[in-house]
Amino acid sequence: MMLEIKVRTGDISKSAADAIFFGVIDGVKKPTGELAAVDNALGGEISRLIKQGEIKGKSGEITVIHALGKIPAGKAVIIGLGKSEDLTPDKIRIAMSDACRTLRKKGVKFIETALIGTGVNNIPPETAAEAVTEGAILGLYTFNRHINKKPESGEIAELIINCGNTAEKNAAQKGINLGKILAAAANQARDMVNEPSNFMTPTMMAAEAKKTAEKSGLGIEVLERRQMKELGMGGLLGVAQGSQEPPKFIVLKYQGKSNKTIDIALVGKGITFDSGGISLKPSDHMGDMKSDMAGGASVIAAMGAIGQLKLKLNVLGIIAATENLPSGTAFKPADILTAMNGKTIEIITTDAEGRLILADALCYANKQGAKRIVDVATLTGACQIALGDITTGAFTNNQELLDAVIAAGQEVGDKMWQLPTFEEYKELNKSDVADLKNTGGRYAGAITAALFVGEFAGKTPWVHLDIAGPALLDSAKGYYIKGATGVPTRTLITLVQSLAK
Ligand code: BES
Ligand code: MN
Ligand code: ZN
Repeated sequence: MMLEIKVRTGDISKSAADAIFFGVIDGVKKPTGELAAVDNALGGEISRLIKQGEIKGKSGEITVIHALGKIPAGKAVIIGLGKSEDLTPDKIRIAMSDACRTLRKKGVKFIETALIGTGVNNIPPETAAEAVTEGAILGLYTFNRHINKKPESGEIAELIINCGNTAEKNAAQKGINLGKILAAAANQARDMVNEPSNFMTPTMMAAEAKKTAEKSGLGIEVLERRQMKELGMGGLLGVAQGSQEPPKFIVLKYQGKSNKTIDIALVGKGITFDSGGISLKPSDHMGDMKSDMAGGASVIAAMGAIGQLKLKLNVLGIIAATENLPSGTAFKPADILTAMNGKTIEIITTDAEGRLILADALCYANKQGAKRIVDVATLTGACQIALGDITTGAFTNNQELLDAVIAAGQEVGDKMWQLPTFEEYKELNKSDVADLKNTGGRYAGAITAALFVGEFAGKTPWVHLDIAGPALLDSAKGYYIKGATGVPTRTLITLVQSLAK
């Protein structure tokens, strides 16, 4: 069931919703505006709670007041937004997400909310409405399709955003439209990543991409083993050779302008399960490696959103998908593979498989003439150790493109941090028997992995995003729930939007 979000003007104190939401900033002295009307109807209860210090307006504070029949709504919910000069769209998203989750636990089905945060710290109504929309949709996400008995609290079915006047309502509607597309895309990526590998094989990933292409008017081509051989995709074929599941090389095409220039290629790692292969991983937490296609999922979901937004540029979405398993046919340490551009690679460990499939995917993007490349991959444990599950590692051969990616991340709340790509690190990827080896050792593991991938970007402006940390969470953080986050789907969409301007 999908949360329905609508917009209206009218007196919120007369709303018949199960709960009505208001935001207050840190240091609030007394209820103002529409909240004053609600306070009056409630016999001054909100004023009392402010005086007593229960309502301070601190970030993270949620006060639920039972209306006891004094207003048509069941509850009034007062949401602390923190200091006004610190308020950002992301803080609105987090506050909205927390409040929605709190009220869902109380069995609430229908919410009407003030346009939280609008006007504070110069946040315009369109931006506030987008943040409220995203916070609600992202925060209320659940993944329970494999559980027969659904949770008792049920789901929130309807959210109405209440606006002061028609102009605000029109602006808010625009924000809602964009917010819905962004959040739904992130949730689509989450669904794909949360599925275990027996429900998200490369074939199923390709099917999901086809569904997305149909819905969003994208072109799609799925290359099979035979075509991979013809193209010389030795990296992808090498990794795939240990698995019974056929690998898929998925290409989504969005054409938003009449010329054929590919303004950007989005490339995703699609390892639907990474056991490590012959260089088998320890069994503890191996199940987490169902998420090793998170980069690919974010590219499929972002391409769908880009199609829906009808942006005026051309984008290619490329996903190299396979399992990485040990078997009698699997590739082995010391094997030498040849990538699509002829570069040879000595295999040190079959567990450094992501860079091998990305190598071919980047060659393919270059062959298609992509003007820019952004690749997304759960690539290294080293990046997870360096930045934790908070921040995506970002690498580039082109500072301007990387700055645009980080700015897009900042806009949507995906945290990214640049790590260096100094020439000196390249030494570590040199092999005695081939052009490259597939690991540079323990030192600077995230950087050498990035530089390996960068070898196949060539001179094309390129950014690599290592999402090994933030792709999957052990516990909820803001609007990211436990499990898949959908990072960096909304960043990719926002980046492409910024390039289209
Ligand atoms: N998929 C893993 C990286 C990973 C680790 C993602 C933890 C998410 C969480 C990748 O294929 C891998 O196994 N990398 C190795 C590379 C090493 C063998 C050079 C790693 O990071 O240990
Ligand atoms: Mn691996
Ligand atoms: Zn992997």
